[in-house]
Amino acid sequence: MIRLFGPLSVEDGERKLGPRDLGGTRPKQVLEILLTARGHRVPTDRLIELLWGREPPGDPTGSLQTFVSVLRRHLTPERERARELVVTEPEAYRFATELVALDLDRFDQLLEGSAREPTRLARASLEQALGLVRGEVFEDEPYAAWALDLRGSYQGRILGAHLEAAEAALAELDFAAALAHAEAAAALDRFSERAHRTEMLALYALDRPHEALGRYRSFRMRLDEELGLEPTAETRALEAAVIRQEDVHSLLPRPIRRAQADPGERAFRLFGRIAELEALKQAVRNAIGGGVALIQIEGETGLGKTRLIDELSAELEDVRVGRASCSELERHLPYVPLAAALRDALTGVDLGAAPLPALSQILPELALVEAKHEFDELDVLEALVALIVKHAPLVLLLDDLQWADPRTLAALEYLRRRGGDVSAALVTAARATDVSPEHPLRRLKPDALVALEPLSPDELAPLGIPGLYESTGGNPRFVTETLANGRSAALSPTLTEALLAQCRGEGTWGYRVLVAASVLGQPFEPEPLADLLGTDAAELTEELERLCERRILRIEGLRFRFRYDLVRQVLLASISPARQRLLHQRLAALAAESSPFSITQTTSSMTG
Ligand SMILES: Nc1ncnc2c1ncn2[C@@H]1O[C@H](COP(=O)(O)OP(=O)(O)OP(=O)(O)O)[C@@H](O)[C@H]1O
Ligand SMILES: [Mg+2]
Repeated sequence: MIRLFGPLSVEDGERKLGPRDLGGTRPKQVLEILLTARGHRVPTDRLIELLWGREPPGDPTGSLQTFVSVLRRHLTPERERARELVVTEPEAYRFATELVALDLDRFDQLLEGSAREPTRLARASLEQALGLVRGEVFEDEPYAAWALDLRGSYQGRILGAHLEAAEAALAELDFAAALAHAEAAAALDRFSERAHRTEMLALYALDRPHEALGRYRSFRMRLDEELGLEPTAETRALEAAVIRQEDVHSLLPRPIRRAQADPGERAFRLFGRIAELEALKQAVRNAIGGGVALIQIEGETGLGKTRLIDELSAELEDVRVGRASCSELERHLPYVPLAAALRDALTGVDLGAAPLPALSQILPELALVEAKHEFDELDVLEALVALIVKHAPLVLLLDDLQWADPRTLAALEYLRRRGGDVSAALVTAARATDVSPEHPLRRLKPDALVALEPLSPDELAPLGIPGLYESTGGNPRFVTETLANGRSAALSPTLTEALLAQCRGEGTWGYRVLVAASVLGQPFEPEPLADLLGTDAAELTEELERLCERRILRIEGLRFRFRYDLVRQVLLASISPARQRLLHQRLAALAAESSPFSITQTTSSMTG
């Protein structure tokens, strides 16, 4: 194992080498530079420039050779093995990272895996990844050029991992651990709202409300004094909830099973989607015939965007295909999903061989191949075009584009407009409902749009399950859940949690509205709901309309109803018996004094 977190160390069985055991500063630095390139070649010129800057010694190449052989001798007593590890190439050196375990690689794998795991496993993976972080990357080289970028990008990832771990710990009711992660995150980024919110929530859950409010105040002051900003509505709402002494359990995230099912879980054949798949294939074929097409799959969560990408990629032949998902964790890191898709598509291609210097802005592992410059964004994008032209035809599949960083989105738009001699299909999938009107994703103009709707009753008919369409609303995730549960309409606890989490995601007010609405007969009118909530009907209607835009409710004439009855059932079943009684009493009183309206017959599920 070679560790770059903290002071450089090389562990090989019994042998343990620290920064001072590598034959001196220069050999150690050579090793660091080669490792930073993560397996790519580093030209000798570049090594010389990094080591000595503008003042190289008389015979830099000779000195470099000496350092390399000193380094090899110190790395391992076996000469053959040493030459396999530090590879001599024409006018370049390379460290064969594929032959060793590198802590950064392991860290990345664990983080990536955690995004696809259920809460419990995800937290374990995140904590295991954080356990590898023994200090900053290249701690003993605080100012070296090669260390700075790498350190910066891992700081971002460590921050993200702490935030995710804190939320997972909250969901598992391990508040002390949640607080520790949140504090670590807040220390890494003094302005991170999410970190400070999580900190407040953990303190509140630990029954330390005064400290929670104290943290809020100092965070607000810091934001105001240093950036002239106010905390966002979400953070302010949390403060209000703490002041009101709201039940902490209603504020906590719930454990969820991640939306991305792993392929082994995909036990059901594809229902419907024939036209959609055909449209996708046609659009891809057109694009790789010459030109660039941006093809967007759109639809709310669970409608089968990821599944459609699976099906499409299984049918693509004779073309390089690269696939990646955007992650909420990494939306602040430029080009990460684009880079991942490119790496996937170009597996086995030596990108260092025909260097496009500006490409290093997208693929940082190439940064050492050429002298480092600040590149114009246009140069970067043209380098991307050149790369694609060279390896065309190319299909890039980018899932969860709602989380893409702005640079990736800009690159997609640039490629699409540039067209010309490029031949590539850019297939993206996004949860349109999670994207605000100002989101840069809205400015992307796809050439082809495949908007997913729920499956139709006809498409579900062959399954021969009565009432399946009615209970699932044709949402494939609900359909497959129901099938997996032996055809009973009951949902698994994990999906129940995920649905509740989604409703909570609408904010405290939105969630209260939804819970109250679940008690009413469907469809319902806004007025009785307003009475029930003791609020103004016009204001409530605005919120109901927003919830329709969020695709949780839908409009039916002058009334509203839950888009999926399963969501209503889950909400209803989540209400505590005391709250149920209260709502029913209020409903009965209201019904007695004004026009009667129906109350759902839910006695059985409400006592369960
Ligand atoms: N047409 C279909 N036939 C059979 N199963 C499907 C179909 N569409 C989706 N599924 C299954 O439904 C589940 C949810 O689908 P998927 O993960 O693709 O949704 P999604 O739109 O990507 O959601 P999210 O926005 O949350 O990522 C998966 O288990 C998937 O295999
Ligand atoms: Mg998906």
